[in-house]
Amino acid sequence: MTSDQHKQELKNAPRHVAIIMDGNGRWAKERGLPRVAGHRAGTENLRRIIRAGANLGIKYLTFYAFSTENWSRPKAEVTGLMRILSEVIDRELEELNQEGARLVHIGHLEGLSKVLQKKVQHAVELTKDNDRITIVLAFNYGGRDEIVFAIKKMLRDGVKPENVDDALVSQYMFTKDIPDPDLVIRTSGELRTSNFLTWQSVYSEWYFPEVYWPDFNEEELRKAIEDFQSRERRFGGLKES
Ligand code: IPE
Ligand code: IPE
Ligand code: MG
Repeated sequence: MTSDQHKQELKNAPRHVAIIMDGNGRWAKERGLPRVAGHRAGTENLRRIIRAGANLGIKYLTFYAFSTENWSRPKAEVTGLMRILSEVIDRELEELNQEGARLVHIGHLEGLSKVLQKKVQHAVELTKDNDRITIVLAFNYGGRDEIVFAIKKMLRDGVKPENVDDALVSQYMFTKDIPDPDLVIRTSGELRTSNFLTWQSVYSEWYFPEVYWPDFNEEELRKAIEDFQSRERRFGGLKES
């Protein structure tokens, strides 16, 4: 990283920002375009948000791209979303790798085509030693699904009830070595979590900009972070007077 880029880093920047990329369909509808065009437009700003985030000192950036509930959308839209993930990896992987981004996937790869599974696995493997920023891709991810999966695995491992605590459960999550998100952003004005990072976000700060995801730019990211910096996080305690 150059010293200029260092200068942009903000004091008390959130270490982990997680984004629910919502509003692609409405963005497209307002332009008389098919929904899939909105999803494609939504990928255009990924690179600039990742770059801006890294320059602001964010170490983990999570993107919610496909939920376990999104399978219930029309087949053509689901197929379109799969194709778009594949295109984004083809288009962005080399540059992400060169810029020092590590890619991590959370959710289940099962359910995706074998080719797409391989593509994601390759991207994860290729970038595993990069350390400038970690990009967490939530694809075929659901917070409840993650918890159910963790419980099953704990039972299978024969974990004793007296050994179950917060730290242990965290280790059974897909996010096991990733810190909890400090800030969760959901674009498009919807005020709900839609099954995102259920275990991890209990003490996250939430931010709900009105813009649709394809219009979320560096300026919007900066506003979100400034808002975060103005908040007092208490974690149930009290500030010493
Ligand atoms: C978010 O945009 C992307 C995915 C859920 C895959 P939407 O497709 O949910 O867009 P809206 O909410 O219908 O506008
Ligand atoms: C959440 O958005 C999932 C992603 C952004 C990937 P949705 O648009 O699917 O959520 P609901 O259906 O409005 O709750
Ligand atoms: Mg939506």
